[in-house]
Amino acid sequence: MRLPDALKEAAEAYRRWILECLPIGKELLYLSQDHVKQVPLTPAEVLDLTEKALIAYSAQKVDMPSKIALHPLADTFFHAMPAYVPEQFVAGIKWGSCYPRNREQFGVPQAQGLILLSDHLSGLPLAVMDCKYITELRTAAVTYTAIKYLAPKNVETFGMIGCGVEGRQHVRNILSVLPGLKTIYVYDIFEKAADALIADLQPCIGAQIVKAASYEALVKNTQVIASATIASEGYNPVIKDEWIEKGKTILLCEGHTLYEDPVFKRADKYIVDSREQVEQFVQYGFYPFGHPVIHAETGEVAAGKVRGRENTEELIIANNFGMAVDDMFVVRAIFDRALEHRIGVRLPL
Ligand SMILES: NC(=O)c1ccc[n+]([C@@H]2O[C@H](COP(=O)([O-])OP(=O)(O)OC[C@H]3O[C@@H](n4cnc5c(N)ncnc54)[C@H](O)[C@@H]3O)[C@@H](O)[C@H]2O)c1
Repeated sequence: MRLPDALKEAAEAYRRWILECLPIGKELLYLSQDHVKQVPLTPAEVLDLTEKALIAYSAQKVDMPSKIALHPLADTFFHAMPAYVPEQFVAGIKWGSCYPRNREQFGVPQAQGLILLSDHLSGLPLAVMDCKYITELRTAAVTYTAIKYLAPKNVETFGMIGCGVEGRQHVRNILSVLPGLKTIYVYDIFEKAADALIADLQPCIGAQIVKAASYEALVKNTQVIASATIASEGYNPVIKDEWIEKGKTILLCEGHTLYEDPVFKRADKYIVDSREQVEQFVQYGFYPFGHPVIHAETGEVAAGKVRGRENTEELIIANNFGMAVDDMFVVRAIFDRALEHRIGVRLPL
């Protein structure tokens, strides 16, 4: 995909602005996870950027080749995730990994990685930054975008399965998209993770957070259910099809790991962030029974091109596995504001 002629002048003006803060070609900006966290960016801004990213992707305004994947151990992966967004003047790549046993083996979160941002006019590197916090912000924001268009109105109960990095971020600002929530049920196979989520987040959340006794209790008691646990290649579902009633909205961060396959096949609407990516993951063995008929991409629904929820009876499942473009919209904002606020360390090239 090329930079449209109409955007060339603006792209050059943006590059001149960067040059006032950073000598492109001589230095790059390094942002650690702490630096990224220091950058002022509100949850509402992250949600807006992420929704725009999903819409831009589905409108084919983004150059985003499929993820290149390595799978060194069972259930682990490295993903090389490049994207170029001409309208944002952003070109970059995330080199991210997921190692689900990292916490028990090495005492660190399963998702790790770095992002490299480059100047799309010269190809020179602009920044290297930690990807963990950016991933955390944008993954929850993708789920929130799906909830905006797919959940019924006046939802009072939300369930979160998996209380790690992503689960906590999902719960943190959930009232921004489900303002009528009264109860949030949480469940984690590592019970202490659920306890810690409640202890840390309950003081700042205006809904009661309750530890669910089981998967069954959680799914039966909640209208909207999100999960962020382990992306597994195998088929060991723990949530039975028969527990899921019509009318629910189910949001997946880790593919089909948790649920019995028939629930996907009987959903009234099955929505994904990227059709192309689903096909790619079939090749990697992630959908051993094949994927359901895809109703739409999340970005098509957010753009109003395809209808989201149409009545309270629909069972709707959104499977958003994450895309480089989600990162890049946030990365551009983080980079600009880090320069403005002189956050980060400059490294010689
Ligand atoms: N869709 C995306 O864009 C995206 C982005 C980042 C991470 N992810 C995925 O989200 C998932 C969670 O990532 P994270 O960074 O929060 O990891 P994490 O290790 O911080 O947290 C995962 C939590 O899930 C719990 N868990 C594991 N298996 C479970 C199960 N079967 N039932 C209930 N709880 C279980 C763990 O005990 C842990 O507390 C991973 O699968 C990761 O691949 C998706």
